[in-house]
Amino acid sequence: MSDDFDLGEISTPNPFIELIRTRHSVRRFTSEPVPGTYLRQIFQAAVAGPDAGNLRSPSLVLCCATALNRELGTLNRFSLVDNEYSDYKIEWEDGTVAAPGAGATDAFYGAPVVATIFGPDGYSFATEDATCMAMDILLACHALGLGACYITRAYETFLTPRGREIKYSWGLPDDYIGKMHIAIGFPDGTPPHIKDPNYEHLLVLVNDQDTFIVEPEYLR
Ligand SMILES: Cc1cc2nc3c(=O)[nH]c(=O)nc-3n(C[C@H](O)[C@H](O)[C@H](O)COP(=O)(O)O)c2cc1C
Repeated sequence: MSDDFDLGEISTPNPFIELIRTRHSVRRFTSEPVPGTYLRQIFQAAVAGPDAGNLRSPSLVLCCATALNRELGTLNRFSLVDNEYSDYKIEWEDGTVAAPGAGATDAFYGAPVVATIFGPDGYSFATEDATCMAMDILLACHALGLGACYITRAYETFLTPRGREIKYSWGLPDDYIGKMHIAIGFPDGTPPHIKDPNYEHLLVLVNDQDTFIVEPEYLR
C-alpha cells in the first residue's frame, strides 16, 4: 500500500459531476406547487435509469394531492413505531429531531409532491431497480432546482389497510410493494453545498503497480 499516485488536476469541473456533488437531502419545502413541466422531466429521468435485464420492474407514482400526501406521511411516520427501526431518529443542521412522538407527524416534511416507487413482490432485483430510479429522481430534482429527500418505510406504509386502499386507487396490483418514497418541492432556504469530504467510506484505487487508499484530500 502507498499513497504515491497521481489523480491529476481538474481545471474545468464537469457540470454533471458538480451537480452530483452538490445534491443533498432537503427537508424543508415552500408551499409553491411544482409545475407540470418539472413533473414531466422527473418522469423522463425516472424511466431512463438502468434496470436488471431491461425488464422495467419499477412503477412510479408522483402524488401532488396535498391531503393525501399528509395522510401518507403520517402513515409512514407511524409505521416507525412498531418495527425494527423504532428507535430511529433524524437530527439535522439546526438540531431539530424527527422521531415518533417528537412532533414530526408527516414523514414527508410537508412536501408538495411525494414520489413512491413500487416493485414486484419477490422479484430478486426489485430493490436494485427501484434504487436506480430513485437516484435518478433525486438528481433530476436537484438539476431542476427542486429539493428532495429519500424516505424509507414505503413497504410498511402500503401494508396498512389505508395504504393498500390508496395503492389500489392508483392502479397498482396487489403484488406490487412499496420500495421507497421521495419527498419533493422547492427548497425553503437550504443552499446547495458540497458534502463534507471527511467521509468514512473506504475508497481504494488499484493499478498495475500498487493498491492505494484514496484519502479525502484527493476529492476536495
Ligand atoms: C435507504 C435510505 C433511507 C433513508 N430514509 C430517510 C428517511 O426515512 N427520512 C429522512 O429524512 N431521510 C432519509 N434518508 C436520507 C438520508 O438521511 C441522507 O441521504 C443522509 O443523511 C445523507 O445526507 P445527504 O442526502 O444530504 O447527502 C434516507 C436515505 C437512504 C439512502
